[in-house]
Amino acid sequence: MTRGRFITFEGGEGTGKSTQARRLADALRADGREVVLTREPGGSPGAEAVRDLVVNGDKDRWSPVAETLLMYAARADHLDRIIRPALARGAWVVCDRFSDSTRAYQGLAGGAAPELIEAIDAAVVGPDRPDLTLIFDLPPETGLERAAARGGEARFEAKGADYHRKLANAFRTLAGRGEGRVLIDASGAPDEVAARVDAALRQALPLEAGA
Ligand SMILES: Nc1ncnc2c1ncn2[C@@H]1O[C@H](COP(=O)(O)OP(=O)(O)OP(=O)(O)O)[C@@H](O)[C@H]1O
Ligand SMILES: [Mg+2]
Repeated sequence: MTRGRFITFEGGEGTGKSTQARRLADALRADGREVVLTREPGGSPGAEAVRDLVVNGDKDRWSPVAETLLMYAARADHLDRIIRPALARGAWVVCDRFSDSTRAYQGLAGGAAPELIEAIDAAVVGPDRPDLTLIFDLPPETGLERAAARGGEARFEAKGADYHRKLANAFRTLAGRGEGRVLIDASGAPDEVAARVDAALRQALPLEAGA
């Protein structure tokens, strides 16, 4: 059995990750693949319980280091129970946020030491890094407007304009590191963004994407 592929969607608030992750999962299923569409923080029962602790409540509820450890506790459970078994049976895993969100939110924008995050990531994720990471880029004001119009969990949205500018820059910095990362212009209509996602997928995984 060939191992499946692991694709993650990353970027700031309201950039369209969840919308496009769903669309990609639908398109891959239409090609006849088994797809596991999942999200972080969360994705397994234990990790969803941790999600409640990190996405709700006062914006300063956790220090960046405490928040990093909660995110990786959730990620360890999600990997063990959902992601690794899916990849092992040949399914494609499409995940809405993953380690780059911790690197950006808690690390580069939040102040947790990047070396700490990399050490924990190496221990928790190890070789099971994403094959492709799509990093959604949009002016933070636009993303926050979209997210506010949608409503829902708003702990990170409440962190202020300066934090969200740092966050957008952090994701651009991460995109520049390569290792399977592609910066996606998240402006324009959903169909336009979906076409950019499709092009990135065909470029990164040409055989599997059938290009
Ligand atoms: N290209 C687009 N143009 C305009 N609105 C969009 C676009 N894509 C998504 N939206 C809308 O913007 C809102 C946020 O989109 P979505 O939930 O997909 O973003 P997200 O990146 O997952 O946000 P979050 O970081 O809060 O999870 C939703 O109401 C969605 O319908
Ligand atoms: Mg979302």
